[in-house]
Amino acid sequence: MNFTAPFQSVVWKGDHLIILDQTLLPENESMIRLDSTDQVWEAIKKLRVRGAPAIGIAAAYGFVLGIKTLSDNLTFDRFFAECDRISQYLNSSRPTAVNLSWALKRLNAEVYTHREKTVTELKQLVEETAIAIHNEDRELCRKIGQNGLELIREKSRILTHCNTGGLATGEFGTAFSVILHAHHEDKLERVWVDETRPLLQGARLTAWELQKAEIPFSLQTDSAAAFLMKQGKVDLIITGADRITRNGDTANKIGTYSLAVLAKHHNIPFYVAAPYSTIDMSLESGNEIEIELRDADEVSHFGERRTAPEGTDVWNPAFDVTPGELITAIIIEKGVIRPDYTENLKKLFDN
Ligand code: MRU
Repeated sequence: MNFTAPFQSVVWKGDHLIILDQTLLPENESMIRLDSTDQVWEAIKKLRVRGAPAIGIAAAYGFVLGIKTLSDNLTFDRFFAECDRISQYLNSSRPTAVNLSWALKRLNAEVYTHREKTVTELKQLVEETAIAIHNEDRELCRKIGQNGLELIREKSRILTHCNTGGLATGEFGTAFSVILHAHHEDKLERVWVDETRPLLQGARLTAWELQKAEIPFSLQTDSAAAFLMKQGKVDLIITGADRITRNGDTANKIGTYSLAVLAKHHNIPFYVAAPYSTIDMSLESGNEIEIELRDADEVSHFGERRTAPEGTDVWNPAFDVTPGELITAIIIEKGVIRPDYTENLKKLFDN
């Protein structure tokens, strides 16, 4: 299946990065220019660029921008120490999505393996690797979409949460790519889009992408999901992931876990779609995942308007963890993985 993406969320220009500022969507489709590692850090932190694969890609380019400022006369050890410093800095922007540290580790490993090269050559190599990470993600997304098709019956009504489309990835998305492929195969009746409180990635971003792709959808509040399932209007649920541990536990946008519990109660399959770069085989279970806590203002305000009394204490976790036992299958670029995840993910990573 050949699609052309209607937009690119991250564009590398050789000496700077252009991103579609996702905080301004849907009203404003504004591309902004990032010239430095600091600007990339800020863009990730503020969610101008967001979604696990996309922040990995952006961080990779942020790393390239950082090393471009270094002198070509550095010794390898000094250069490598700087690479480490830049990576740690970029990695501090957001803690939960593993794609960020995965991309940075890959760049550092590339540098270390080629320590015999000059700094000028290493800079070139890092830039090529960042571009490769970006291109590879496009391909991973395409494969995830194709692999997910086997799970979709005719006239499916799919519920999704947060945004997992081209905005959140190199192109096409993860869960969104499955939806896109299902639509092109004429297997889709409708997408139910959770608005995704508090930052409304569903309402602002997924609805925007679905509209561009001309896919029929309805938007609902997150709390309407249970009632919708009770009425038999959801055939399956697909979400993305920010980090999947060895046993299949999955961190994703806050509210994902509730959907998985509801899916079990209503006997609805619950799928997670993600590339291998989101799977963290170094962690045994979801208990070890650091969950990002974000500003109180995101909950106590609706946009600019205060909705809770001044001084209200707020708990604002950006993600939750869905236990592997609630996940029917994980769709990755290599195929559809079913439980037992500990066994099946290990087999996959051993090969
Ligand atoms: O806080 P966000 O908007 O970066 O959260 C994004 C999500 O939770 C997505 O579902 C996840 O990153 C998968 S994107 C393909």
